Amino acid sequence: MPPSSSALIIAIDGPAGSGKSTTARRVAERLGYLYLDTGAMYRAVALGFLEAGYEDPEAAPAAFLETLDVGAVPAEGGMRTLLNGRDVSEAIREPAVSALASRAAVLPAVRQRLVEAQRQIARRQLEQGRGVVLDGRDIGTVVFPEADVKVFLVADLDVRARRRRQEGLARGQDRSLAEVRAELQDRDARDQSRAVAPLRKADDAVLLDTSGLSIDEQVEAVLRLAAERNLSTPVK
Ligand code: DC
Repeated sequence: MPPSSSALIIAIDGPAGSGKSTTARRVAERLGYLYLDTGAMYRAVALGFLEAGYEDPEAAPAAFLETLDVGAVPAEGGMRTLLNGRDVSEAIREPAVSALASRAAVLPAVRQRLVEAQRQIARRQLEQGRGVVLDGRDIGTVVFPEADVKVFLVADLDVRARRRRQEGLARGQDRSLAEVRAELQDRDARDQSRAVAPLRKADDAVLLDTSGLSIDEQVEAVLRLAAERNLSTPVK
């Protein structure tokens, strides 16, 4: 980017497997921005519940949440996720954590805490003149409704299930396509129907169907939107 370009907030939302994380991470790399994977933060809270034996997050006492300290640390190739100081970046990718993250994300207290943390992390970057790319479900609608660029990624369920299965295989998780597909469907339904901050496209977000796109094409599409925004915005 030219040195005069402003530091933008780029919000990338969408359902699981739509390509958000990979796209967001690469866009951040290309622009020299911070990448914040907000789903990883919900996953870390879910892991905290799971490790404490609360398989039903709603059954945990309200004070338990206060004992969970979730950290997001920029690292080579993305971000590392910490739970009470421990690096849990791999543990949070287990299928049991995926399902529980979506259930924990229904709880208003969990959302309130994480949304506040996400805003703080992003604002600290902006104060230093650096932009931020955030990916999640509610970035364009709740966390940063004033984001400079908003993208809502979608893809066919079968395409998303195949992608997720491949990602799992790379981590040694051999699950059937049918199982992965059912889990995605279940999670989408819960994420879309919850009362607080449901998964929803912001009215002013650009819809991008990634079913037939390569990662490079997705990245270029978001970079184009960022460049257009930079041309139309006075330097901050
Ligand atoms: O993006 P992901 O699959 O890692 O997210 C895990 C879960 O966390 C997802 O099913 C819903 C929840 N989540 C959320 O409610 N809001 C966000 N901004 C990000 C994730």
